[in-house]
Amino acid sequence: MVEEIKRSTRKEREEWIKDANYNLFKLASDQVYIDLLTDSGTGSMSANQYAEMMTGDESYAGSKSYFKLKETIKELFNFDFMLPTHQGRAAENVLFSVLVKEGDIVPGNSHFDTTKGHIEIRKARAIDCTVMEAFDTQIELPFKGNICLEKLEEVLKEHQDRVPFVLITITNNLVGGQPVSLENIMRVRELATKYNKPVLMDSARFAENAYFIKIREKKYNVHSIKEIVREMFSFVDGMLMSGKKDGICNIGGFMAMHSEEWYEKASVFNIIYEGFITYGGLSGRDMGALAIGLREATEFSYLETRIKQVEYLAKKLDRYNIQYQRPSGGHAIFIDAKKILTSVKKEEFIAQTLAIELYLECGIRGVEIGTLLADRDPITRENRYPKLELLRLAIPRRTYTNNHMKVVAKALRNVYKRRHQITKGYIIKYEPSLLRHFSVDLAPI
Ligand code: F0G
Repeated sequence: MVEEIKRSTRKEREEWIKDANYNLFKLASDQVYIDLLTDSGTGSMSANQYAEMMTGDESYAGSKSYFKLKETIKELFNFDFMLPTHQGRAAENVLFSVLVKEGDIVPGNSHFDTTKGHIEIRKARAIDCTVMEAFDTQIELPFKGNICLEKLEEVLKEHQDRVPFVLITITNNLVGGQPVSLENIMRVRELATKYNKPVLMDSARFAENAYFIKIREKKYNVHSIKEIVREMFSFVDGMLMSGKKDGICNIGGFMAMHSEEWYEKASVFNIIYEGFITYGGLSGRDMGALAIGLREATEFSYLETRIKQVEYLAKKLDRYNIQYQRPSGGHAIFIDAKKILTSVKKEEFIAQTLAIELYLECGIRGVEIGTLLADRDPITRENRYPKLELLRLAIPRRTYTNNHMKVVAKALRNVYKRRHQITKGYIIKYEPSLLRHFSVDLAPI
């Protein structure tokens, strides 16, 4: 599919962003020139996916498209049980309804915001055990998404009775789409087994993670992406999946597991929240497109092209001395906003300020991964200030060309050149009690 994208003037953008209360989520898509808000559901589907949609089986129960998806999941990840859901967070909702209760502690590597939300809404707590190196954007390491094993063991020891499972997120989205090594997955498994805990994988970008394992973890260089994926999932008890990322679909998700007991319990919640267990909020054609997308995402040539495009943008930024989380990640570049806007105070939302400046400059929409996203502490209601203030530029799959990346780099360079004139950020006019970054209203100081 080819879609028209529209240019605009700075004056128009000034009005639009003001009307959107300086929240980029509130802009209409045709007020955006290059949309790097997310790589979720924004990719282009292939001819084969559209062809599959034409033969989607829309039976309420036991449709052919459901079985196609189930077989694909068995083949790629080797799980016997699976439940489709309308997207990733719905799988979190269903499975956590079975596994997470009040007072629980869920250790992992930078739980995604909806994942954390589904934990916290159950009055449980997510503890981030990501390796420390991930929080220094200039350290160049192959697997900055890894879990720190010492930190994880501390949590497992201290809260033995309260940990329902360990959660590994691949790739680690919030620290820059950074991968987790197979070595780390194995070690996490060993530790979890020692403390008798299951391990779950939040697998939204599993194929990108497998690509990095192939390229950066020597031992696996000779293996195919599919072999690496099978190996990664052989160490875990279940998976949560947003089909909107490495399923290359506009909608869809699922959970899969070995345990029949989990499956049976989760089925009840799936029916209440999502739909019958063989469609879970999806039409037959969506499940068909997801089955094909999952396979296409594990093609090496596709992954190489995609990740090299992210690298292409990174190399341009290197030329302009713009600092970002190094090395560049699987799905996005994360600009280190604190290193650019040195005069904006943390209370004034540094990364959000940079996101607004980039939009004003050229109509490019990124997303803040900083204090707005980190939200307030659920108990003290104080702002949580994360170690990093990042502006994420997420690159949709199979959508933009490298010429678009050139525009992005030039626009950032222009903002960078006038960085010393940007000294003030924003204050909050309105915020909801959870997941505030989606609907917050801001005003310039
Ligand atoms: N897990 C991870 C690691 C994610 O990045 C996301 C979504 C989800 C779970 C939830 O999946 O959107 O299908 O409900 N991330 C998107 C993003 C929204 O922009 O990073 P979903």
